[in-house]
Amino acid sequence: MSTTTISPATSQHASRKKVTTLTFRQKKERGEPITMLTAYDYPTAMAMDKAGIDSILVGDSLGMVVLGYDNTLPVTMEDMLHHARAVSRGAKSALLVGDMPFMSYQVSIEEAVRNAGRFLQQAGMDAVKLEGGRERADAVRAIVGAGIPVMGHLGLTPQSVHQLGGFRAQGKTATAAKRLLEDAHILEDAGVFSLVLEAVPARLAETISKQISIPTIGIGAGAGCDGQVLVTHDLLGLFERFTPKFVKQYANFHAEMNRAFTEYLDDVETKRFPAVEHTVEMSDEEWDEFQKEIK
Ligand code: KIV
Repeated sequence: MSTTTISPATSQHASRKKVTTLTFRQKKERGEPITMLTAYDYPTAMAMDKAGIDSILVGDSLGMVVLGYDNTLPVTMEDMLHHARAVSRGAKSALLVGDMPFMSYQVSIEEAVRNAGRFLQQAGMDAVKLEGGRERADAVRAIVGAGIPVMGHLGLTPQSVHQLGGFRAQGKTATAAKRLLEDAHILEDAGVFSLVLEAVPARLAETISKQISIPTIGIGAGAGCDGQVLVTHDLLGLFERFTPKFVKQYANFHAEMNRAFTEYLDDVETKRFPAVEHTVEMSDEEWDEFQKEIK
């Protein structure tokens, strides 16, 4: 096991105050970037909380980077709640956002409110996120009306992958950019506390961020957003299938896992593992007694 000491930079956030939607707003007002990452399990959430990450998104990217689906569409409410519970057990300070999966908020407003409520009531989340613009304004209003903070998500909205014709950047024409800006205003008016902008041109994201009073969180949307989010498996180099252009990879955990598993395999096959220090012993006295018992 590693004995690396925690530097002051990583330990300073250990006992920080709970991050809330108000903290998000205050950070935007002060011009301080908001940090957000995705997590799907207890140890990752714990490490992020310790590092001082402002907010953890239990994203439906779960479907791709953890469950191995081709896209996020097969992810269910039960999948999301299961992983959200693990994250909430690991992170006590970060603002926890549960991502509403495909078909959990599109069918009716009533279902949308009920499913949003489950994230808070049954999984310890502080807020929910849902994808879409003007077509989701009524659902957003109803969920917010039930006292549940909602984060919006515009641009590349992966649950619409088939409608968008693939995972492609959005808002690249003047008409599309205008519609996206309008959607941002509509969502703000509907009551979202924050807005994810995914894979949109940087200058469009910056304009939106300046025009609306709620914080924008960018992913592939440039430095003009009020905060940034990445899918953690991309950042850690854990997801091998593909890496979007906008990802900065901070580690190569896939290669590191490969190295560790190969070394373990070799150790077991050559009987270097387990060694004496990994072995449980019993006293000679008890052993002799045991020998007598089995004769
Ligand atoms: O599901 C997810 O991880 C997301 C982020 C990409 C914002 O929605």
